[in-house]
This record gives sequence, C-alpha cells and structure tokens, in this order.
Amino acid sequence: MNIDLVDQDHYATFGPPHEQMRWLREHAPVYWHEGEPGFWAVTRHEDVVHVSRHSDLFSSARRLALFNEMPEEQRELQRMMMLNQDPPEHTRRRSLVNRGFTPRTIRALEQHIRDICDDLLDQCSGEGDFVTDLAAPLPLYVICELLGAPVADRDKIFAWSNRMIGAQDPDYAASPEEGGAAAMEVYAYASELAAQRRAAPRDDIVTKLLQSDENGESLTENEFELFVLLLVVAGNETTRNAASGGMLTLFEHPDQWDRLVADPSLAATAADEIVRWVSPVNLFRRTATADLTLGGQQVKADDKVVVFYSSANRDASVFSDPEVFDIGRSPNPHIGFGGGGAHFCLGNHLAKLELRVLFEQLARRFPRMRQTGEAPPVALELHQRHQDPPRHPRLNPPSGRPLPRVRPGPSSRQHPPSSQRERRLRPAFEGPPARPEPIHPPERSEPDAPPKGAETEAPPAPPQGAPIEGFRWSSNRWTAQGTKRGGTPGGLTDRFLMKSVSAGGR
Ligand code: HEM
Repeated sequence: MNIDLVDQDHYATFGPPHEQMRWLREHAPVYWHEGEPGFWAVTRHEDVVHVSRHSDLFSSARRLALFNEMPEEQRELQRMMMLNQDPPEHTRRRSLVNRGFTPRTIRALEQHIRDICDDLLDQCSGEGDFVTDLAAPLPLYVICELLGAPVADRDKIFAWSNRMIGAQDPDYAASPEEGGAAAMEVYAYASELAAQRRAAPRDDIVTKLLQSDENGESLTENEFELFVLLLVVAGNETTRNAASGGMLTLFEHPDQWDRLVADPSLAATAADEIVRWVSPVNLFRRTATADLTLGGQQVKADDKVVVFYSSANRDASVFSDPEVFDIGRSPNPHIGFGGGGAHFCLGNHLAKLELRVLFEQLARRFPRMRQTGEAPPVALELHQRHQDPPRHPRLNPPSGRPLPRVRPGPSSRQHPPSSQRERRLRPAFEGPPARPEPIHPPERSEPDAPPKGAETEAPPAPPQGAPIEGFRWSSNRWTAQGTKRGGTPGGLTDRFLMKSVSAGGR
C-alpha cells in the first residue's frame, strides 16, 4: 500500500484516502509519514482521543495546531488564537468564552436559526446553487445573530469572511493581501461592536463575553477581537462544508434521504452522522513535548504528530458498519468535533443545531429535491493563508495602512463570473490519478504487508438529476464549496472543496 495521506490530487479527485487510512488503522495506527518535516500519522479513534486529551504531552502552542510549518514570527501571531495555545493560557481564555456557548445559550437560538433557515429557503426555487444559497449564508448569518450584528451588516460580514477563508480562492479573493485586509475589517467591526455593547449592554453573547466572570476576569479588547475573528473563520466554513458535504452524501444515499423525509425528526441523529461521515475538519497537528510511546511507537520530543479525524470516524473498533451512512446511528461517538480535551470544538452544539434545523426544514419543504449536476471535489492548499496570518491592527499594524472604517449599510455579495470559478475546477471524475510514488516506511515503523487487492476507493458515479418541478433557483449550479478536510486552520489537503450541482423540487 502506498501511503500518502496529504496528497492533494487524491483529495481533489477521490476525496480522503479512506482505503489507506483503513489499512493504517489495521497495520500501522501510528505511522511515520514522510514529509517536510515527516510526522506521525495517528489514525485510530483511541489514539486520536488520547492525543487530544493530553495537551501536556501534545502541544498546540509549540509549533501550532496547524499542519503547515511557518517561521517563529508568524507562529507568535498565531498563538494569539486559543486554538494555538496550551494551558494555562488556553484554560483562561477558553473558560471566558465558554460562557457564551453553553447548551442552554445555544438552545435559546433555535427559533432564530429556524427563521434564518426559512428565510433562505423562501428564496429558493427551481434549480439552485446550494452553497451560495444555503450552506454558506446559514452559518454566517447565525454568527451575525450570535454577535447581535444588524441584518443590514450581514452581507458585508459575509464578504469579509469569504475573502478571509479563501485568501487564495479565486471565488472569493484575488490575493492573500485582500484576505488580510478583510481580517482587518473584522477586527475593526468587532472593536466597534464591543464599544457599542459596553455603552449599552444587552442580553446577548457579546455582552456576556465582555463582562467580568465570577473571578473578575474578562477578555481584553484584543482578545475579544481575535475571538470574533476565530468565530468568523472556525464557525463558518466548517458548518458550510458539513452542510454541503451532508447534502451531497444524502443525494448519494437516496434511501437515507427518503428516511429523513418520512421522519424529519431523524435530523438530530443525521446531523451527527453527517459530521462523522464528512469529517469537515480532516486533521489537526500537535507537537510532542517529551519522549513518549504512542500506539506502540517511540515518539520523540518535538516530533510532529498529526491526528486524522476522518480516519478515526471510520474506525471499525468503535463504529459498527463504519462504511455505512446511517442517519439514525445512535450512539454515535464520532470525533468530528475533536477527541475531547481542552480544545474540543467550542461551537459543536451550535453546529449540530444548525445542521439539524437545515436538514429538517429541507426534508419538510423540499422532499423531492434532487441533485442535477456533477459534484467534483477540489482540494485546495491553505499554505498561503497560514503563512500569512491576519495581523491584528493594534498588535501588529501593517506599515502605512490606515485602520479600516466600519461603514454601516449593505454591501453586495461578490461573486466572480462563472468562467473564473470554473478555472480551478477539476472535472468531476476524470479517471484515476497517478498513484503516489511508494513511500518507504522508515525504520521506526514497520507495517505489515498490505491487504491483497486493496485499491484506492473508486468514486461513485455522480447521481443523475431528476426533472424539477415547482421552483427555480437563481443560478443553475450548486457550487458546493464543501467538505473541507482538515481544519479550519488546517494545512495541506485541509481544504477539500466539492463543486456540487443540484436542484430541487417540491
Ligand atoms: C460541523 C462544524 C464544525 C466542525 C466539524 C468543527 C470541528 C472542530 C475541531 C475538530 C476542532 C478542534 C478540536 C481539538 O483540537 O480537539 C474545533 C475547534 C474549535 N471550533 Fe469548531 N467545528 C465546527 C463548527 C464550529 C462552530 C459553529 C464554531 C463557533 C461558532 C466553532 C468554533 C470553534 C473554536 C473556537 C475552536 C477552538 C477551540 C479551542 O481551541 O479551545 N466550530 N472545531
């Protein structure tokens, strides 16, 4: 078995290398993977959980939680985000923001989320673009709701977030500099928001986050602005990719869609199964802080350790029939939101609520919805974005550039002409890619022989669209910017986009 878990082409053509991951789980669950630098690929559920729950041994701060390497100067900046912190700094920051994300606080948002969903669905008719019309705006609008941002500002924040998360994505940004500039706008907006809430506190999450806790601790202004930035990135694209990946998976499993239509209350378990199946965050990285043993391997201090959630979520020792997409799966101990421990996804309740409401409403309102076109996956590297992290204006002002002004009023969403979008698309299923060159297992890892006949998973044929009745959406393609594999702040192959095409019908 040739092993390359970070081969862009594989992700772009087939999706995650599930066959390789399965083989590794069985034969070399902690595998020394070649790379620059090489790293330990952790593929079993049990080991991913172990790494996630021992932040003293597996640091997020030392060389960050991001896959890609970057110079210390940039790491310093990244460490301002709690994702790239270790206790005790992380513990302090996390406990301050936890207050805004308790299950109770999130439950209180359900009606708002239903209203947002309904509004978006009201605008859908005929054939449409699932990502542009639903999967992208829903999480962003929810975050705006969370922040108490006026409805008139949504499109503006939407455009900033798209530029930030897609700094090298021609759909949304011409250059990484534009991504940086958008981040600056978000900082400035957050600063304005904080000033408004301090002057006129409300019963909302922003006010709660700015107030002191029972120990008299509160987020500093900079911390608050950085947190808003993290929310806009971490809470946005992940859920977008889960929604679009989930929709595509339901199209590929029409029996499960029919099940959902027959009983929309299954949307609750479906949300978890979608996160397990799609694993919108493919990987995160840690760095060993000491010589230790992991999965029978001798890991040295400072070794790079990469946990693959997408692999752990198909671990047969935890899930019965892991290769079956079952929207009623329960219990479902997936670790799509992390393996527990200090960094466990802050927004997991919110993301699940959004997915539940979206798929419940879709099943109720558009039971005969069908996919009408191809869904070619596209993997993008985020190297550039992570090598050029957004600079906080006060902490790190770019020379000579004035702080952006927060301007009220609507701004239009910006989409490039479709020809520009298509430039980076690969044809959906253009045949098998060249197999990666064999990687010789290093001396420290000796996997057994590969299973006979083990082949890379063949992609399923794209489902054919059914005739549409009833409504017509504004554009005729679902440009599903879907299924990021590998981390809001991920790294190589962390971004796995699906250009899916769809349509609906009542
Ligand atoms: C389906 C959607 C989502 C998925 C799959 C996802 C997945 C993850 C994963 C895997 C982690 C890292 C866990 C670890 O290192 O142990 C994480 C962290 C995080 N997520 Fe999510 N996430 C999603 C949605 C959200 C949403 C909606 C928000 C906010 C509104 C959010 C905010 C965060 C934050 C702030 C962190 C960093 C937590 C820390 O470092 O303490 N996520 N997420």
